[in-house]
Amino acid sequence: MKIAVLKERRPDETRVAASPETVSKFVGLGLSVAVESGAGGASSFSDDAYAKAGASIARDAATAAKGADVIIKVQRPMIAGEGENELAAFSSGQALVCSMSAMTEGKFVSAMAAAGVTGFALELIPRITRAQSMDVLSSQSNLAGYRAVLDGAAAFGRAFPMMMTAAGTVPPARVLVMGAGVAGLQAIATARRLGAIVSATDVRPAAKEQVQSLGATFVAVEDEEFKQAETAGGYAKEMSDAYKAKQAALTAETLMKQDMVITTALIPGRPAPRLITADMVKTMKPGAVIVDLAVEAGGNCELAEFGKVVVRHGVTIVGHANIPGRLAETASNLFARNILSFMGLLVDKETKALKIDMDDEIVKGTLITRGGKIVHPKVPGAEGGGAAKAAAKPAGEKPTAKPAGEKPTAKPAAAKPAAARTAAPKKKPAATAKSKAKGE
Ligand code: NAI
Repeated sequence: MKIAVLKERRPDETRVAASPETVSKFVGLGLSVAVESGAGGASSFSDDAYAKAGASIARDAATAAKGADVIIKVQRPMIAGEGENELAAFSSGQALVCSMSAMTEGKFVSAMAAAGVTGFALELIPRITRAQSMDVLSSQSNLAGYRAVLDGAAAFGRAFPMMMTAAGTVPPARVLVMGAGVAGLQAIATARRLGAIVSATDVRPAAKEQVQSLGATFVAVEDEEFKQAETAGGYAKEMSDAYKAKQAALTAETLMKQDMVITTALIPGRPAPRLITADMVKTMKPGAVIVDLAVEAGGNCELAEFGKVVVRHGVTIVGHANIPGRLAETASNLFARNILSFMGLLVDKETKALKIDMDDEIVKGTLITRGGKIVHPKVPGAEGGGAAKAAAKPAGEKPTAKPAGEKPTAKPAAAKPAAARTAAPKKKPAATAKSKAKGE
């Protein structure tokens, strides 16, 4: 089997789908690997390092892809009309493994089917124990939570820890984390390590104990609706207007006291909830910083601008694109290991050929197109009314059946657009919040 690793061509994308480490593992398994020249450049992986690991270096995407059984990427290839038509390098019968926002990128999915490409969407990997090592959403969110605090600290004109100096005492910074999922828990842990006094909010009751176990204070409207706010799959629900009004009042009061706010709140399949209005920004301390990790999904802060750092009413609002990509080498290393682990399901151990085992719930849950057709039941355009079924079942609402013995577990980790979120089931036992935020 030949694997091709293509260079990412989207603006802001610094990551790559294979590292020299994973290339050598693929080669050790008896596979051949072709890497497009320069694919790892932005992640500090040179062509030489890939060649030493056993890859052949191809001068361009078409040469790398030629004769490949599986092509791996971080983000989905662009199609005609999107700038460069990356899909043109693919041939019918080849498999593609990458993050592709398959639930919402209908045009791309149709183009992939029409090209005869067998597509596997990494964002649909179910959040079950066996799939943890393949979970790109977690590995990348974890890094985004960490990086958000560092980006915020760099834009902040004051210190984080309390310092007692001969020149006087420096007070500790107060940091509020809004949304205590994978990214939020890592942000809490990082801000605490830097010496800040941290509080956090979420609409899922399970988050309370996780926040507290990291030494932060939990701030939330804990009414009856809050007690029901987590879906069976572990995701947040869209809250009622009445709850939103109570939450907004509490947020407005809390924000005035903060030096920094990191927002990470997402609802699968919907725009990010608007938690910080322009009026609330006006009441914040001069010099305060907001880092909006949900900016790609529309933003939790009304004044955040995608890909920009802006100052509004004396508050710096950081809206960087692709935050995991701002830690390119680490993000690529983890993404590459996620793919290596996933590829273990697609290679026949004996023959080393591509194997698609539809009895495996991870393979079945991620396979989007095959034989020129859309085959995932929840993806619009699928044979047998996938779109209708998907519409009938809100994203994140219900986990798919798990084999006996599969326990969902928690694990911090990517900034992902809400559009990339899916109905993948996920749950996390409260007790594991600390180890997760520590990256264990
Ligand atoms: P996410 O990225 O969908 O959302 C981030 C956070 O925003 C969530 O905690 C959500 O409850 C919160 N949020 C949504 N609306 C909000 C609002 N209006 N106000 C305040 N907060 C709001 O979530 P993520 O990070 O993917 O995690 C969701 C759950 O899945 C967590 O419990 C997480 O620990 C768990 N998980 C389980 C895994 C597994 O079982 N293998 C792997 C990764 C995560």
